[in-house]
Amino acid sequence: MTRRDSHQTWGGRFSEGPDARVAAFTESVSFDSRLAAHDIRGSIAHARMLASVGVLTDAEFEQIAAGLEAISQRIADGAFEWDPALEDVHMNIEARLTEDIGALGKKLHTGRSRNDQVATDIRLWLRDAIDALIAEVVRLRSALIDLAEREAETVMPGFTHMQVAQPVTFGHHMLAWQAMLARDSERLREVRARVNRLPLGAAALAGTTFPIDREMVAGELGFDSVIDNSLDAVSDRDFAIEFVSAASLIMTHLSRASEELVLWMSPAFGFVDLPDRYCTGSSIMPQKKNPDVAEIVRGKTARVNGHLVALLTLMKGQPLAYNRDNQEDKEPIFDTVDTLLASVALYADMMPHVTVHASVCREAARKGFSTATDLADYLVRRGVAFRDAHEIVGQSVQHAIGAGCDLADLELTTLQRFSTVIESDVYDVLTLDGSVAARNHIGGTAPAQVRAAVSRARAML
Ligand code: ARG
Repeated sequence: MTRRDSHQTWGGRFSEGPDARVAAFTESVSFDSRLAAHDIRGSIAHARMLASVGVLTDAEFEQIAAGLEAISQRIADGAFEWDPALEDVHMNIEARLTEDIGALGKKLHTGRSRNDQVATDIRLWLRDAIDALIAEVVRLRSALIDLAEREAETVMPGFTHMQVAQPVTFGHHMLAWQAMLARDSERLREVRARVNRLPLGAAALAGTTFPIDREMVAGELGFDSVIDNSLDAVSDRDFAIEFVSAASLIMTHLSRASEELVLWMSPAFGFVDLPDRYCTGSSIMPQKKNPDVAEIVRGKTARVNGHLVALLTLMKGQPLAYNRDNQEDKEPIFDTVDTLLASVALYADMMPHVTVHASVCREAARKGFSTATDLADYLVRRGVAFRDAHEIVGQSVQHAIGAGCDLADLELTTLQRFSTVIESDVYDVLTLDGSVAARNHIGGTAPAQVRAAVSRARAML
């Protein structure tokens, strides 16, 4: 063999090889070599099927499979030399196979095309990536549930409009994060089901004239079913869009959590602290300890959202069936998986080490008149209409602001100036612990409910 370039596999009708810049522009092996192990798995399954339907002999299959296994080993050892002149992962492996086992290697591509081959490879690769991601999301959920249990009694302010609203427990807040991630796990499983369908057998676009057995290949590769229509099989990238969409939501959830962690770690809040090993410093301000993991996760959300838009845009103008545009699907998919795995894994490592400053959280809840609604509810229980109660409490809060104290600090006689139905038991509802304990129903913030929710969440993991 004198020349190794892609031209040798499709150059029959060409009178010259590709221009050097064209070759550099169109190659994909610099990034799609990541698909190698899955490409080889797919090729072995395809060859086994060709032997079973009589297109290859059993001896030919054995030789091809052994050759592919040897290449797989060399790739795993880092000893395989990728050649950009051979365009992509598929042709690099096929060319090497032919060099290693001789002309028989050229029979491997019978009854298939790189179009159904690459679609199969990405689906196999993404299926493994999704499984790894689900495991990390579950690990993070488990960490949040543990933290929720630990902080089931810790009172902090709950916010609306970023203003102190009502007291909640820190555990309740962690379970809200967990609930978002529980939906994310569900979404990943749903996407996986649509990823896990076999395109191979569609060949270039119309199917093949060989008597292939697609069910057999699906079975060997662990696909749930074969894709019904050959044109759709080679051109569909919905599965990638759905995956990156689910990934964007996970990053969005982590980004919202990051925003809260960043606020809570600011000395102005002082609610939580992280070990030094999860923070970085400033090169100019010696006092700084920055929650950079949270900030970078929030920042990385932008690139995953970008990948979602990239894939949607990649598909919007494509006629059936395969177009080379699709080569552009890989980098967004790979980077989404890398970004997401790193972000979720780091969060799962970090969350068990969050220190919650319970007294600071409590003081912040105490300061913001967070039990005002409890006072209104108290008045309602004593026969006052809710709108009137709202007005009475509003006046009490205004008075407390003037006096520079909390509602619970006002004398009974002072409170009674605003409503005569108020008695000394009012202080039970004005306390933070009374307030959270009173929200004692499914989904409420009472410590008892948080503990019950912790058990339910654990059972769902
Ligand atoms: N590298 C290509 C891709 O990523 C593989 C399929 C190329 N098929 C073709 N007929 N040129 O999509």
